[in-house]
Amino acid sequence: MSVLVTGGAGYIGSHMVLNLADAGETVIVLDNLTTGFEWLIDHRVKLVTGNVSDTQLVEKLIAEHDVEAVIHFAGSIVVPESVENPLKYYKNNTASTRDLIEACVNGGVKHFIFSSTAAVYGMVGLEPVAEDVLLNPASPYGKSKLMSEWMLADVAAAHPMTYGVLRYFNVAGADPEMRSGQSTAGATHLIKVAVQTALGHRAKMSVFGDDYPTPDGTCVRDYIHVSDLVSAHALLLDHLRKGGESTTMNCGYGRGFSVDEVVRTVKAVTGIDFIVEHGPRRPGDPASIVAGADRIKALGWQPKYDNLEGIVEMAYKWEKYLDTRNDRPSIL
Ligand code: UFG
Repeated sequence: MSVLVTGGAGYIGSHMVLNLADAGETVIVLDNLTTGFEWLIDHRVKLVTGNVSDTQLVEKLIAEHDVEAVIHFAGSIVVPESVENPLKYYKNNTASTRDLIEACVNGGVKHFIFSSTAAVYGMVGLEPVAEDVLLNPASPYGKSKLMSEWMLADVAAAHPMTYGVLRYFNVAGADPEMRSGQSTAGATHLIKVAVQTALGHRAKMSVFGDDYPTPDGTCVRDYIHVSDLVSAHALLLDHLRKGGESTTMNCGYGRGFSVDEVVRTVKAVTGIDFIVEHGPRRPGDPASIVAGADRIKALGWQPKYDNLEGIVEMAYKWEKYLDTRNDRPSIL
């Protein structure tokens, strides 16, 4: 039996592959390599280059490798891009997921784990958000993921498949052994941008808005280490394999840091002062989004890297490692 990881050549997917391979699982990666990198994939696993919407290919893989579970990471993830190009998101996230689920149903896959996002909540207050609040995604990205959540629930009610949905908060950091890290070209995420600025790859960076109703006026986010995030997937897979019910869970630590706090931490950890401008708000940004983490903790999740300095340190170390590669993904 094996586990099929879609998007396994991407940032989070490649960490999932490491987690599964370290646990002795047989893993197949399906990735079209548009944003992922072959060199990020652990050598112990098989890479198949292709699209998750290629139902024929997926059904063939399921049959050939006796796929018991699918962990679905492949998709597009940039909130502002989804506002400019919504159809890309409905295609890559919603339509493709629909096709993948169909292949899984046809192939008799037992369990499906889906990477969803805190963006399904939209604008919430300053308190940690629980899974069962009214969902009101503010961006096409959040909507494209929420539709997939709904599809999964409907499909699992009609077919013998259980699912786990994890709603990710702000994922950052890198594998503590430096086997993988955030390598996406043109990354827009705060910690990545800040460590790149510290390294001089960007002349300066901007804080998007400082007039939010938060303690220091900048946005608050729940930054979670990528290795803790993938360990939550492993736990969820174990839960489903033991006959556990389908479930939807936030994946964050339940505490937040402001943009200014993150920038200060990057300066402290790297020991480098860099230019930070305070600019206008970025469209679609909620003031604060922090995970209510009761559900995932009740499942027995024990995060190991809940420490912003440590997360930044690993992100910084990975960025320096990328500098040593001739094929370094482009910064901008
Ligand atoms: N930010 C800056 N300057 C930058 C980059 C980001 O000020 O150069 C700010 C943003 O405005 C935001 C915060 O830093 O307030 C975090 O921004 P990111 O782009 O790092 O992350 P987002 O919060 O926009 O989005 C991330 C994921 C989504 C997920 C969301 C849930 O990319 O997939 O977290 O909170 F849905």
